[in-house]
Amino acid sequence: MIFYFSATGNSRHVATKIADALGENAVSITDCFKKDFCNFLADKSENIGFVFPVYNFGLPITVIDFIKRMNIKTNGNYIFTVATYGGFSGGASKIIKNELAKKNITVNAQYSVRMPDTWTPAYDVSDKEKNAKINAAADKKTDKIIKKIKKHSTGNFDSRRIPFGDKFYGGYESLRRTSSLSVEDNCIGCGLCAKECPVDAIEIQSGKPVWVKDKCAMCLGCLHRCPQFAIQRGSKTKEHGQYIHE
Ligand SMILES: Cc1cc2nc3c(=O)[nH]c(=O)nc-3n(C[C@H](O)[C@H](O)[C@H](O)COP(=O)(O)O)c2cc1C
Ligand code: SF4
Ligand code: SF4
Repeated sequence: MIFYFSATGNSRHVATKIADALGENAVSITDCFKKDFCNFLADKSENIGFVFPVYNFGLPITVIDFIKRMNIKTNGNYIFTVATYGGFSGGASKIIKNELAKKNITVNAQYSVRMPDTWTPAYDVSDKEKNAKINAAADKKTDKIIKKIKKHSTGNFDSRRIPFGDKFYGGYESLRRTSSLSVEDNCIGCGLCAKECPVDAIEIQSGKPVWVKDKCAMCLGCLHRCPQFAIQRGSKTKEHGQYIHE
């Protein structure tokens, strides 16, 4: 069973690639929330994985909430985490290991994969060729991870972690303010942003998205998926482009 959270497809791609190679199921954390279903019984032979994007050197709030709510009966399973990141995974591996330990789940191995950086307030994803090269390297890295998982290797193989990286994670709280998101006049009111938001932070009112929660996961899924590219966060996102893993 491979649990994943993904706003723009990177972590979903890695999770399904691993699940396919192992003959296991990839389970969407967002779907679990939407169906209010977080109870699982693991078969003895199953590997259990958590695949997620790094946010602010840590974890999306959705992953933390899922781990808190999930009820999984393990049975001596091999347990691993995979962080997908754009530059540095920081303290993400340490944070998820600690969160899982609180649920008496001991992680056996931790991995990470570099992918296009979807934090477009700072990074540019408009070069499709560059993204394709990063994703080709990410596929090779994932193949290596799959080999390690099949051998049940143990240890921390997250090569982009930073000592004390978890100390920077506190900044995520202020980053999550929905007041930083805005919509432009070219919005056609299609409702996709509201439908796809993992935390139901958007409602369509009078044909436009309205952020109805003070804080969200700040996954930027609404910004990257909008067919009109009408959602922005600050002054740079427009020029930095939209990205979804194909
Ligand atoms: C709110 C936010 C914060 C991010 N913070 C980091 C970070 O601290 N370090 C990093 O390397 N990448 C960071 N990223 C980039 C993502 O971790 C990376 O692009 C990831 O692969 C996206 O996965 P997804 O497509 O499955 O959502 C951030 C992205 C977002 C949206
Ligand atoms: S996805 Fe874009 S076009 Fe559709 S309602 Fe949301 S902002 Fe408007
Ligand atoms: S409002 Fe947008 S950025 Fe915030 S969680 Fe929803 S989809 Fe992600």
